[in-house]
Amino acid sequence: MKKFFLTTAIDYANGRPHIGHAYEKILADVISRIARLSGKDVYFLTGLDEHGQKVEQSAINRGVTPKALCDEVADDFKALCSTLNISYDHYIRTTDEYHRSFVQKCLQQLFDAGEIYKAEYTGIYSLSAERFVQEKDKVDGEWPADYGHVTEITETNYFFRLKKHQRWLIDHIETHPDFVYPKFRAKQVLEFLKEPINDLCISRPKERLSWGIELPFDKEYVTYVWFDALLNYVSGTNFGDKILGDHWPADYHIIGKDILVPAHSIYWPIMLHVLGYELPKTLLTHGWWLLSGEKMSKSSGNIVDPLDYIKQFGPDPFRYYLMREMNVGQDCDFNHDRFVTRYTTDLGNDLGNLLSRIVNMLHRYCKGIVPGFDVGDPALGELRELWNATKRGVLSEYQTLTFNTALERLFAFISFANKFIEQNAPWKLAKSPESSDQARLKTVLAAAAESVRLATLLLAPVMPSTAPKILSSLGATPEVTWNSLEFGSCLWNKTVTENVILFPRWEQNLS
Ligand code: MSP
Repeated sequence: MKKFFLTTAIDYANGRPHIGHAYEKILADVISRIARLSGKDVYFLTGLDEHGQKVEQSAINRGVTPKALCDEVADDFKALCSTLNISYDHYIRTTDEYHRSFVQKCLQQLFDAGEIYKAEYTGIYSLSAERFVQEKDKVDGEWPADYGHVTEITETNYFFRLKKHQRWLIDHIETHPDFVYPKFRAKQVLEFLKEPINDLCISRPKERLSWGIELPFDKEYVTYVWFDALLNYVSGTNFGDKILGDHWPADYHIIGKDILVPAHSIYWPIMLHVLGYELPKTLLTHGWWLLSGEKMSKSSGNIVDPLDYIKQFGPDPFRYYLMREMNVGQDCDFNHDRFVTRYTTDLGNDLGNLLSRIVNMLHRYCKGIVPGFDVGDPALGELRELWNATKRGVLSEYQTLTFNTALERLFAFISFANKFIEQNAPWKLAKSPESSDQARLKTVLAAAAESVRLATLLLAPVMPSTAPKILSSLGATPEVTWNSLEFGSCLWNKTVTENVILFPRWEQNLS
């Protein structure tokens, strides 16, 4: 069976992970978990981009070897993945041997086919972007800030023919409307392709850069960062006993908007086309996390360290905030006060409180055992209908990648479940001697518990460590499946645990 194959960008090994890196992994993880729960066989690839001048320079500045620096950074990034519960299947490092040999094999194939040639070139080079840039890259006559310092360089190098495939690429994009998500970004790519594109310089002489993969046909050169890095998406499927055909083509390459044009939408499709591989189905392009309107980046120093938030709030509230706030494709400002409000209101007051009220009342009125109830009871009509609509909406929004609206909808259901308890006031029913009131008390508590169970199952891809805790406290098995999303009596006769505090009150200040 063909795997549902998704990748993130591989992070540069020259800095510590920040919220932009964390977001991309969380997004990929949420999509992976949804796919697994929907019965797909998922392969989720992420990793580290280790070669290039920036890494080499950082290592020199720190007085360590590039490999030692990369090992340290890989540990940091992997630790973040583990803290955030990122369920990747493979973590590729571009210094891995299987990757190096695959890159060399591709280079030789392209060289033999005449797609790579040697020439002298004078151009303007950006160290920050690690590529030659062109006048047309200027914005309002200025080089974009993220290009950093640019200098003119004359050098003999190897070039990969892009120009001759330009027409083919335009046709592919025009005839594959899902190739770039969101659609407005496809327009940007086509806009870029209106002008003739330059062939891609794929090498650096070793005297300028030694930290790279050697060209198999010229030992004086190493390959250029992007050519090496992009191929991870294929080499990362083809190590050990894994078989490429089960994986390729990728369903989603998840990337930030800064690396769509030209790397992922021009270089990469042409490389694949010439190498004889199918193209990925979708370049899922997300926006940036901003701080007061500015892009977060190492160079500008305005960085939110995910670990600060995870330490104080836990990984799931952090995941929830990022998925709830960002409309995939658009930029979003990270706002501390909003974070605290989401934590306190959505998670603490709505979800956490709902669970603890139910567990407390089940202890008080039902000896801690979930009673049976009549699913056909008219008192449940509105709650059940709202659940059915919520389920349909959330599942469909999960497929269309509109996670912010899916979570908004899910939490509207959670709020309604709280309201349902208020309206039916089990504490009053408990005091009544009438047997009909006693029956309703059971129905109300069982239905409220069922509502939490159901909402938790749909929340699980976003909050994977909280979901099993909620299910266990309701007496259900902690494993999440989507086989039982019907409003029913799954919890009947289960014993609830002692009250659990999922989201403790937050009082500290972030330092
Ligand atoms: N190494 C290249 C990618 C090679 S992929 C074959 C690279 N690395 S990066 O570390 O700079 O960025 C990794 C990912 O994080 C990119 O998709 C980038 O867009 C994303 N983000 C970096 N900063 C970001 C924000 N402030 N907000 C959201 N994501 C951003 O590019």
